[in-house]
Amino acid sequence: MIQVTLKNQTGSTRNSGRYPATPWSSQRLYRPFVRASFIIALTLGFTTGTGMLLAAAFGVDRGVWWITHTQAHGMAQLFGFAGLFTMGIAHHVVPRFRNGSIRFPWPQRASLTLVVAAIVLRFTAQMVSDYPATGILVIASGILLLAGALTFAATIFPVLLGGKNPVGTAERWIYAGTTWFVISAAIHLALTVWLLANEASIAPNHLTSAVIYSALFGFVGSFLMGVSTRAVSGFLGLRPAHRYLEISAFAILQAGLLLAVFSLVLEASAELSALGLLFVTLGVVIYVVALRILEPSQVNRAPMSPGSYARYGWFIRGAYFWLLVGVTFIAIESIEVLFDLDILPVANSSPVLHVLTVGFVTSMIIGMGSRMLPLFEGAVVRGRRALDVSIVLLSVSVLTRTVAGFTLEGYTDSVLGISGTAGLLAVILSTPALIGSLRESSRAKYRVLAEEQGRVKWQASGRTLPGHIVES
Ligand code: HEM
Repeated sequence: MIQVTLKNQTGSTRNSGRYPATPWSSQRLYRPFVRASFIIALTLGFTTGTGMLLAAAFGVDRGVWWITHTQAHGMAQLFGFAGLFTMGIAHHVVPRFRNGSIRFPWPQRASLTLVVAAIVLRFTAQMVSDYPATGILVIASGILLLAGALTFAATIFPVLLGGKNPVGTAERWIYAGTTWFVISAAIHLALTVWLLANEASIAPNHLTSAVIYSALFGFVGSFLMGVSTRAVSGFLGLRPAHRYLEISAFAILQAGLLLAVFSLVLEASAELSALGLLFVTLGVVIYVVALRILEPSQVNRAPMSPGSYARYGWFIRGAYFWLLVGVTFIAIESIEVLFDLDILPVANSSPVLHVLTVGFVTSMIIGMGSRMLPLFEGAVVRGRRALDVSIVLLSVSVLTRTVAGFTLEGYTDSVLGISGTAGLLAVILSTPALIGSLRESSRAKYRVLAEEQGRVKWQASGRTLPGHIVES
């Protein structure tokens, strides 16, 4: 019998015995992406956003700096924090969904380097705001982001097209998510060309909004929905999804998003993009109904492994609750445009966008990360109490942002400062759980707990321990 010894990424060797792991499946390709996602979140993303809100709370005027920082922060959060996390998880789950293999490691190294470089360059360019340096930096950022998205697509598409499993509904969302990543990066390139051609340091609204919607609902949103369809349903023991409703949700959401994004890019009428966003809302609502994520679980969930975090479902259900709240606001804003009405008060500091990005995207990243990463790694979750506090802080952050962003005249800036601080703290508190799962010490602790659990079960069964297991 052939015995194969593989060396994995942690540098440890393990004997695979009769069924050796294939080289791709022994890799943990998501690790550098998850680390980079959190490094960007805690250096350029959440920190910049919170710093801006605190500056306003302490009376600093919102001048040009506010807009340049807003745009740099938005790009870092969408493509860095959310995008890199999504790319990392995709490299791990897509070949497993498809029961196929994936090319590594150069495509992952290349796409990670390209996307991180693009974010840092755009951030630096908008901080410097001094031509011709800004122009060169932004255009380089545009080219590198598109190259990163194309490299990612060239790695994921063959996996989606190959594989031995029949194509399910999750694959549709992942095809769409990958395509939207390329589209959003292409629009971002157009935006950087505009900045260079106009020697400007502030990007125009129509292209900025097109990048935001295509990255948020198209790239990150479609991926999160695909993974929810395939994995979250099972994790949470949900009732069987309404498949035809889910297919309708997919079609309506994607068609609406195409209409909204391309009417923005082409500067067509505001009514067309509002109509597109209404369809996006409808698609999202039908999706949540179809997935039955807000209904009680049908079955008792399988027992969790030792040292895992049982309340991850609160983050995930909370995320879908905030998604519904966010798209309801979007629907009202779209109706205002279509029928020339004034329903909502004037918004301060983008509350609706942050119901979606903090409420939905961030909660999903922490919820999925605290369930999936320890599972992929065979590791315990560190800081489980901190995760409990993080759920509360995220809700406080979204709630205060929405209330202050729409209504609290006179107190707006101070409450927004509190909202930003709560959001930043929530992410800081979740970092030991998510990044800590990638550490060897968390895997070692898991092995000890799993062995202990096995020993207790064995003894409870009344059998004597085999000779090679030593009683502790
Ligand atoms: C503690 C959490 C956060 C804080 C305090 C924060 C803060 C801010 C602030 C102050 C603005 C400017 C708003 C305006 O003037 O209209 C902004 C815009 C934005 N934020 Fe956040 N943010 C947070 C989280 C996030 C997350 C998680 C994402 C994405 C995943 C995100 C994406 C964006 C985007 C796309 C924009 C608009 C960019 C643009 O208009 O070019 N933010 N944020």
